[in-house]
Amino acid sequence: MAVKRGLLPILAALLGSASLASAACDPSSLDNSTFLYNVTVDGTTIFDIANATGRGVCDIGRQNIMANVTIVPNVGESILIPAQTCEPDNESCILKPDPNPRNCLLGGPRLYYTVRGDTFDKIALRLNMTAESIMIGTTPGNRTSTGVTNSSQELQAGSFLKIPQCEPSQCIMQPYSFKWGVYKDLAEKFGTTVGQIMMLSPTYNYSSKAFLGGSFPPITMAINCTVLSDNTTVLE
Ligand SMILES: *[C@@H]1O[C@H](CO)[C@@H](O)[C@H](O)[C@H]1NC(C)=O
Ligand SMILES: *[C@@H]1O[C@H](CO)[C@@H](O)[C@H](O)[C@H]1NC(C)=O
Ligand SMILES: *[C@@H]1O[C@H](CO)[C@@H](O)[C@H](O)[C@H]1NC(C)=O
Ligand SMILES: *[C@@H]1O[C@H](CO)[C@@H](O)[C@H](O)[C@H]1NC(C)=O
Ligand SMILES: *[C@@H]1O[C@H](CO)[C@@H](O)[C@H](O)[C@H]1NC(C)=O
Ligand SMILES: *[C@@H]1O[C@H](CO)[C@@H](O)[C@H](O)[C@H]1NC(C)=O
Ligand SMILES: *[C@@H]1O[C@H](CO)[C@@H](O)[C@H](O)[C@H]1NC(C)=O
Ligand SMILES: *[C@@H]1O[C@H](CO)[C@@H](O)[C@H](O)[C@H]1NC(C)=O
Ligand SMILES: *[C@@H]1O[C@H](CO)[C@@H](O)[C@H](O)[C@H]1NC(C)=O
Ligand SMILES: *[C@@H]1O[C@H](CO)[C@@H](O)[C@H](O)[C@H]1NC(C)=O
Ligand SMILES: *[C@@H]1O[C@H](CO)[C@@H](O)[C@H](O)[C@H]1NC(C)=O
Repeated sequence: MAVKRGLLPILAALLGSASLASAACDPSSLDNSTFLYNVTVDGTTIFDIANATGRGVCDIGRQNIMANVTIVPNVGESILIPAQTCEPDNESCILKPDPNPRNCLLGGPRLYYTVRGDTFDKIALRLNMTAESIMIGTTPGNRTSTGVTNSSQELQAGSFLKIPQCEPSQCIMQPYSFKWGVYKDLAEKFGTTVGQIMMLSPTYNYSSKAFLGGSFPPITMAINCTVLSDNTTVLE
């Protein structure tokens, strides 16, 4: 009885806060318009645009079939803004570090093309690798070949990094029409990493036109990336 009496107020509190949360959002007060947000100020991030428009970062990311919501758009680019929702999603498209990142890449490809804002830490997270392993891989045995020894220091955009590969390993490669979501969704569905999908289509970042009469971007998908032996070596 004591336990039951203890639980009731907790349940009541939970139910109360749930109904408070839904009461706090009146759907008829939402801004249901969709429009193009035109980037005019250098350094405007998708997080800034989410804040300015009251949308979720991931809702904007999926509406624009983005490779990655942390890539900073350039001045002159346009981002398609979806309707507001009662539960803006800022979480589901953000990668969480794996407790056991690898020190080599399963199945390739070889070169990673840096995008604006990249650091070794960010690239490593996208590849499920340690930052140390990709800093070494840039030039065998030479951590300073990019001139960057600090894994959280920004790298120059538009340069290639060599990524160490696990041997033997493979991915199945297939052409793919990207119709919805962000690369994290695809990585989870197909058994690869966000970084590898980026490596296979190095200049793709997002498409705000796909839902405005444009076409869906054709990309290459790496599928079921896996080691082919218990004894792999690292090819740097
Ligand atoms: C926006 O859409 C929601 C869900 O479709 C609807 O309940 C709400 O009334 C709409 N709001 C406006 C201002 O049209
Ligand atoms: C952004 O630019 C497009 C065309 O370039 C225009 O149609 C649209 O109205 C602009 N959006 C805003 C919010 O000014
Ligand atoms: C989502 O992120 C944006 C930008 O960082 C922020 O303005 C907004 O308050 C966040 N929304 C929620 C529900 O966390
Ligand atoms: C934008 O961020 C500011 C500061 O964090 C916050 O006060 C404001 O509510 C946010 N706006 C929206 C629409 O989320
Ligand atoms: C996104 O891709 C387009 C087309 O390749 C390119 O013109 C633009 O500079 C890219 N934007 C960023 C922020 O990398
Ligand atoms: C984009 O990259 C950043 C940094 O690596 C990461 O935190 C984030 O989760 C990535 N998001 C997606 C959708 O790939
Ligand atoms: C990261 O790699 C580890 C093996 O080191 C694996 O268990 C895990 O599933 C991988 N996570 C992702 C998100 O690919
Ligand atoms: C490492 O790379 C840097 C920059 O390219 C170069 O100056 C340096 O000599 C290299 N060190 C070794 C040991 O190869
Ligand atoms: C590495 O770079 C980051 C960002 O530029 C900076 O905040 C940090 O202090 C640097 N760390 C070291 C050890 O230099
Ligand atoms: C990837 O693996 C899954 C699960 O084992 C399998 O169902 C699927 O057919 C594989 N995909 C390809 C392209 O082989
Ligand atoms: C693993 O492979 C390496 C190089 O191919 C070889 O030298 C080593 O003996 C192998 N180890 C095992 C346990 O098979």
